Amino acid sequence: MKEQILELLRQHSDKYMSGEELCKRFAVSRTAIWKHIKDLQEDGYQIEGVRNRGYRLLAVPDLVTGSEIRNGLQTRRFGQYVVDLKNTGSTNVIAAKLADEGEPEGTLVIADQQTGGKGRRGRAWYSPGGTGIWMSLILRPELPMAQAPQLTLVAAVAVSLALTEIVGQKAGIKWPNDILFEDRKVCGILTEMNMESEEINSVIVGIGVNVNQELHDFPLELQDRATSLRMVTGQRLQRAAAAQRILEQFEVLYDLFLREGGFAPIRELWKRQSVTIGKQVVAQTPRGVIKGIAVDIDEMGALVLRDEQGQVQKIYSADILLAPPV
Ligand code: BTN
Repeated sequence: MKEQILELLRQHSDKYMSGEELCKRFAVSRTAIWKHIKDLQEDGYQIEGVRNRGYRLLAVPDLVTGSEIRNGLQTRRFGQYVVDLKNTGSTNVIAAKLADEGEPEGTLVIADQQTGGKGRRGRAWYSPGGTGIWMSLILRPELPMAQAPQLTLVAAVAVSLALTEIVGQKAGIKWPNDILFEDRKVCGILTEMNMESEEINSVIVGIGVNVNQELHDFPLELQDRATSLRMVTGQRLQRAAAAQRILEQFEVLYDLFLREGGFAPIRELWKRQSVTIGKQVVAQTPRGVIKGIAVDIDEMGALVLRDEQGQVQKIYSADILLAPPV
């Protein structure tokens, strides 16, 4: 009922909602309504209560709850069903479990804090409470397995376009899926696939965005390469609003990707947002270090490098260091 009261207050935020009206709608006592209002106030909602007039919602807190994510969200599937958690190990792990249990495409798991946030290549992802967007989306694409890695690139384009719009400054993509502002990482994406007899059962796309951290909030070892939306804009942002823009962009591009049955349109957008193409790079691959110029990504999403001997090499998995221009 607390959620429903909040919805009503949102819809009528330009006027007072009388206590009597609320009692009637929910067929409960004034005290019951008052308890829910108090609960909402404790969550951080600024609700004014005026005798003989009623309650009015003045301001909403920076929460990543289902209610905040769904409110005004312009999608058909992505984020329409939300599992919100105050604290969890990793949202990717929870989403994988829910996918196994049959939750549909578009289900979103989002946490205020992760204690075991996972990064690419077995690394940890720093996910403190109250500051970032730590979310995982369940997808069930009908795609050949070989094309699944392209979903990470679709997600990267979506996040990069959404953050570019929010901040008003280009959020570049470093291959395959780091999102950067001025060479510092603001977002990482971890895609994990669940197969069943050669077919994709589900894909979990985990997205971590640093939103309201200041430089000193990051551990020392990250301070020379991490950034947040707040550090770029100088302003605190509502995390739910930023998550909504990402989900909206992602759904549009995902649908385009599936409809076109291929990567071509996404590839063009990826290249436009990329800060890797045309750069001198060092690729730390599982098979060793390759230095060269990044010239393209191919139709499968692999990075194409021209190495120091002039040979063209394709990179499928690597950490990329961007060398400064000479
Ligand atoms: C990376 O750049 O290494 C990928 C980082 C991915 C972090 C996100 S936060 C939400 C989701 N849950 C996780 O445990 N990891 C991803």
